[in-house]
Amino acid sequence: MKINGTPYRSVWVNEKDGWSVHIFDQTRLPFSLDILRLTTQQDVAHAISTMQVRGAPLIGAVAAYGLALALRQDAGDTAMEQNAAMLAATRPTAINLRWAIERMLKALRPVAPQDRVAAAYAEAGRICDEDAAQNEAIGRHGLELIRALAKSRPAGTQINLLTHCNAGWIATVDWGTALAPIYMAHDEGLNVHVWVDETRPRNQGAALTAWELGSHGVPHTVIADNAGGHLMQHGLVDLVIVGTDRVTRTGDVANKIGTYLKALAAQDNNVPFWVALPSTTIDWTVANGVTEIPIEERAASEITHVAGRDANGALTRVQITPDRSPAANPAFDVTPARLVTGLITERGCCPATEAGLHTLFPEQ
Ligand code: MRU
Repeated sequence: MKINGTPYRSVWVNEKDGWSVHIFDQTRLPFSLDILRLTTQQDVAHAISTMQVRGAPLIGAVAAYGLALALRQDAGDTAMEQNAAMLAATRPTAINLRWAIERMLKALRPVAPQDRVAAAYAEAGRICDEDAAQNEAIGRHGLELIRALAKSRPAGTQINLLTHCNAGWIATVDWGTALAPIYMAHDEGLNVHVWVDETRPRNQGAALTAWELGSHGVPHTVIADNAGGHLMQHGLVDLVIVGTDRVTRTGDVANKIGTYLKALAAQDNNVPFWVALPSTTIDWTVANGVTEIPIEERAASEITHVAGRDANGALTRVQITPDRSPAANPAFDVTPARLVTGLITERGCCPATEAGLHTLFPEQ
């Protein structure tokens, strides 16, 4: 996608600069577009765990490059396995992270240590290219849903979408998952408008989704997380599209905390609730998302404080709770498949069921 007319991906390698890995520091958006240069696996682990880089597909891609950086220091079997385990443990919920590390190890174990660095960069590059292509395909399939909605209304009627968290191009390598169809609908002239949940506690919607949509010229409005149900009751939401960090083989969906409440409100108001994902987000080993998907518990300070920009333009954190009040911070929740209208994947759309997923992915 483009920033001020220049095309970017959300992760890239600079061969002329020691094969370092570059990302945008997502903790500083939307106020500051800072590029971080990562040169060690520790840099990568830190960037993932502090959420300088985030979003399920992107943390997988960046972790893959983290393993390439680790191999530059020590390409032996023991170090490779240890660094792979260290990178895979940086965040627990998004399955793409573990998937990417397992794919890297599968490709690298048979390679002689002296050839592993080159092989690792090549494999990580393929993971990135495939993610971008899968998301573009998700965009095309999701676009059909928006086109169908537009056709069912008088020409030019505004289509109101709602999304939660950030499942745009900076959460993936390119395009995004939930936002890819929205970008394509906007680009072909459909009258789309997006309600953007602010997504407390870290405000990925208010900070990142709003920044992405604004940069692309997509009409949008940021709303408090609690506003979605009210808007749905008043007919102001035509379609919900969210991304996900892990989908079970039965169609349960783990995504940013608060997604489940949106799905409940959507069902009560007959609003279609779609989930966009590349197949790298499906955990074929898990049947029950509520009991089996590990939910990341993040620092209480993300609840007790909010980050923002002060009157002088400096980034700052402000306390909003009493000194002695404890806070809890589960970062994800699971939306049971029964509340999901359907899944949008790179191979097309399907019901959120085991049979639906197997129709698209018979090899599983
Ligand atoms: O904690 P985050 O910001 O990494 O959570 C991200 C999300 O929940 C996204 O919706 C999900 O990863 C899909 S990204 C295409």
